[in-house]
Amino acid sequence: MSGMKKIVFATNNAHKLREIREIIGDKYEILGLADIGCDEDIPETSGTLEGNAEIKARYVKEHYGYDCFADDTGLEVEALHGAPGVLSARYAGDGHDSLANMKLLLSNMEGQGNRKARFRTVIALIVNNDITIVDGIVNGTITHSPSGDNGFGYDPVFMPDGYEMTFAEMDSVTKNRISHRANATSELIRYLKRI
Ligand code: IMP
Repeated sequence: MSGMKKIVFATNNAHKLREIREIIGDKYEILGLADIGCDEDIPETSGTLEGNAEIKARYVKEHYGYDCFADDTGLEVEALHGAPGVLSARYAGDGHDSLANMKLLLSNMEGQGNRKARFRTVIALIVNNDITIVDGIVNGTITHSPSGDNGFGYDPVFMPDGYEMTFAEMDSVTKNRISHRANATSELIRYLKRI
């Protein structure tokens, strides 16, 4: 272990940590926030996904000294000028209630012919003092009603292009192969393997 470069992924999400550890191989040891004793709620005060990812990565670098990467994700709906976007987690208010968020989205989309949307994940990486931003996108449409029980967040109302089912009707292996997060993570890993 001692020869491996340590890098922090600014998350407490065990699923995200496991996933990236499996993909990244043995060049880096990936630490989560809990591994470095960081239990603060890092404030996400920016109006953009890029800004929030950068705030989280810089926070860890400044307070804990580790190289770090952090992610932020949003659902961007064309007819709603990119909303809910950076507000995706709290679209219907501060409660982080997925059902309320979806309901509000569907009501704002009532009568809309253009149902194009995309999920976008941005990852900000700080190595030494250099910052790199990568992103990953999956294009799709917003359905007229929720369908499916898998996944989380807006999955029941998002149908990715090329599929006749929502993310919530897909098995997780398929979703994780084509998702915004998978695409952003692949970009990150390509970059980390080069430096
Ligand atoms: P986070 O930046 O990963 O915390 O994502 C912010 C918000 O975007 C979440 O609270 C969800 O509402 C939404 N979101 C992110 N990823 C997904 C996904 O894969 N499916 C559905 N909703 C998602």
